[in-house]
Amino acid sequence: PLVTSKEMFKKAYEGGYAIGAFNVNNMEIIQGIVEAAKEERAPLILQVSAGARKYAKPVYLKKLVEAAAQDSGLPIVLHLDHGEDFEICKACIDDGFTSVMIDGSRLPFEENIALTKRVVEYAHERGVMVEGELGRLAGVEDNVKVNEREATFTDPDQAVEFVERTGVDSLAIAIGTSHGAYKFKGEPYLDFERLKKITEKLPGFPLVLHGASSVLSDYVEMCNKYGGDIPGAKGVPEEMLRKAATMGICKINIDTDLRLAVTAVLRKYLAENPAEFDPRKYLGEARNAVKKVVQHKIRNVLGCSGKI
Ligand code: G3H
Ligand code: 13P
Ligand code: ZN
Repeated sequence: PLVTSKEMFKKAYEGGYAIGAFNVNNMEIIQGIVEAAKEERAPLILQVSAGARKYAKPVYLKKLVEAAAQDSGLPIVLHLDHGEDFEICKACIDDGFTSVMIDGSRLPFEENIALTKRVVEYAHERGVMVEGELGRLAGVEDNVKVNEREATFTDPDQAVEFVERTGVDSLAIAIGTSHGAYKFKGEPYLDFERLKKITEKLPGFPLVLHGASSVLSDYVEMCNKYGGDIPGAKGVPEEMLRKAATMGICKINIDTDLRLAVTAVLRKYLAENPAEFDPRKYLGEARNAVKKVVQHKIRNVLGCSGKI
């Protein structure tokens, strides 16, 4: 069944582990993720971006996720990733999502609060959970310099005020991660001091880490070996994610690692099997790779194996 994240987050917080929130765009990705979660008996969030809805059409993704929940028997949260306005959040809530993100992080503080509050009111009347975001993730390729951290990373006092005034159920914070495959130019750095302050000021409150792919080197190398060109890709080290999971981070967002795995395996399969043209062969390989990555995350990064 589709479930809300409320109990999941409570257990994760208390247990010092995180739940994986994986972006989905098609059937193979959904099936790979869900097979892994089923084998691991792991709680699961499947999330859909505006781009995913545009690519696959909302109704297809909704029905595929419903099919996955029905077929696996797993409790699954269906979440909107980076909703940018009230309308897309409303559309997803009306469509049966159990959780939505309203991402007002680009807006001035007061406007972010006003927008988030409006979504929370609509969502909560319908039993749907809301994730807000405060602070700005670095864009692909721009390394946040030390003196810029104050301006872009989440301010702990503002986080408290934001949570109190909006009534959000969880909060995405900026502590040094970024979206995509190029997260750090030099040494990876996350501001754990800041995370600690936020957790101390908001005890028991679930925090969310976006941009949390590790950019697994096996798959980057496989891509590059079979004709890809993604030099210098770098993600968040796994031990940093494990640490974050013990410090109030209850939801860890992963998209890039799945994209890389799919692409790497496709490149390899097609290069090694030039006569093959049955999509089920190579998409089946991609599905297996997604499953493998998610299983690895659940066991070795998130710590949520056996938690349902
Ligand atoms: O945060 C972004 C996610 O990786 C989704 O990406 O907007 O290209 O679907 P997308
Ligand atoms: P990655 O690009 O690190 O996978 O982050 C995904 C994300 O935050 C989706 O919201
Ligand atoms: Zn994100």
